[in-house]
Amino acid sequence: MTFADARAMFPVLQRLAYLNTGSFGPLSSGTAAAMAEEGQRDLADGRSGLAYFERGLALPDELRALKAELVAAPPDTVALTASTTDGCNVVLSGLGLRPEDEVITTTDEHFGLLGPLHASSARIVVVEPTAESILAAVSPRTRLLAVSQVLWTNGRILPVHELREASGLPILVDAAQSVGAIPVSVQGLDFVAIPGQKWLCGPDPTGALVVADPDALRIARPSSFSFSRDDGFDVAGAFVPRPGAARFEPNWISVATLAGLKVALTQAPDWSFERAAAQADQLRAMLAGHVDVVTSPEQATLVAFRPPDGRTAAEVTGTLMDLGVVVREIPRRELVRASVGWWTNEEDLDRLVAGLS
Ligand SMILES: Cc1ncc(COP(=O)(O)O)c(C=O)c1O
Repeated sequence: MTFADARAMFPVLQRLAYLNTGSFGPLSSGTAAAMAEEGQRDLADGRSGLAYFERGLALPDELRALKAELVAAPPDTVALTASTTDGCNVVLSGLGLRPEDEVITTTDEHFGLLGPLHASSARIVVVEPTAESILAAVSPRTRLLAVSQVLWTNGRILPVHELREASGLPILVDAAQSVGAIPVSVQGLDFVAIPGQKWLCGPDPTGALVVADPDALRIARPSSFSFSRDDGFDVAGAFVPRPGAARFEPNWISVATLAGLKVALTQAPDWSFERAAAQADQLRAMLAGHVDVVTSPEQATLVAFRPPDGRTAAEVTGTLMDLGVVVREIPRRELVRASVGWWTNEEDLDRLVAGLS
């Protein structure tokens, strides 16, 4: 696939300098067409019948396998979810943490992780987002590390595998800004929560959760997908869990959404990571003469900077939006964040820089 082919997949790029994949990735024509086709089938044939249910159960099998391949996970450790937050909730509710337990997290986490952390009973220890601070906070009470692999505030990469190895503690990785943006292997990690709608450019709501050892996590939020089809459940509610991580799947996801996700997961070219990293580096360099860039070199695909000329991040984001440049502000940080993907071209970056003056 050439760069021109790749770019042509995403109609939004014809009009907008779309630099907000950290919130939602661009949808491709192929993804939208697959969703529309299934939607039409739902309308014409009704959401019923053997063929419908067979499709609704076969597609998740395919999608688990595709997601597993993306992050080098065994397919039976992957559950389909509706979001990153969904995955964090499944893990934190299932671990059965108690008030005397501690979980270490960082100052730069999204509420998608922080919310589920605070809903657990554990004491949350918040430290600076560096490996040194995280490891220094480990105590005999620490039960879990819960951190992002790429910080949503500034794109910094945290060495999650090293943290797991050095601490010997289970780790929950929020991979919202990493999977699809940079190469990710989940090997050696305990729990990894992944969105489908960001860097994988899938429909919303979609996501996945990797649970390395499904038998070791309690099913705290059972759904119709939690019990074994062979053993079923009894009238008192007791059930034999379905094999693998699919037991944690919280919801039926519409066939149209699954069909769209399947297209999205198979559309990235093999040069995607290289190209996205190069474009992010280029943006850093282009912004350097104009604004205070807070993202260090050689991080992920988010580039954050302080608004110029005493303007607020909201003002800058609004002005850029009027000019057809889509970025976002990071609340409470007074930062503007641009998301650079494998589909981003020089003109997108020029439009952003020009819009700042
Ligand atoms: C680091 C991080 N974690 C979690 C989330 C929440 O993602 P989701 O909407 O998939 O739950 C976001 C969303 O931007 C994020 O940036």
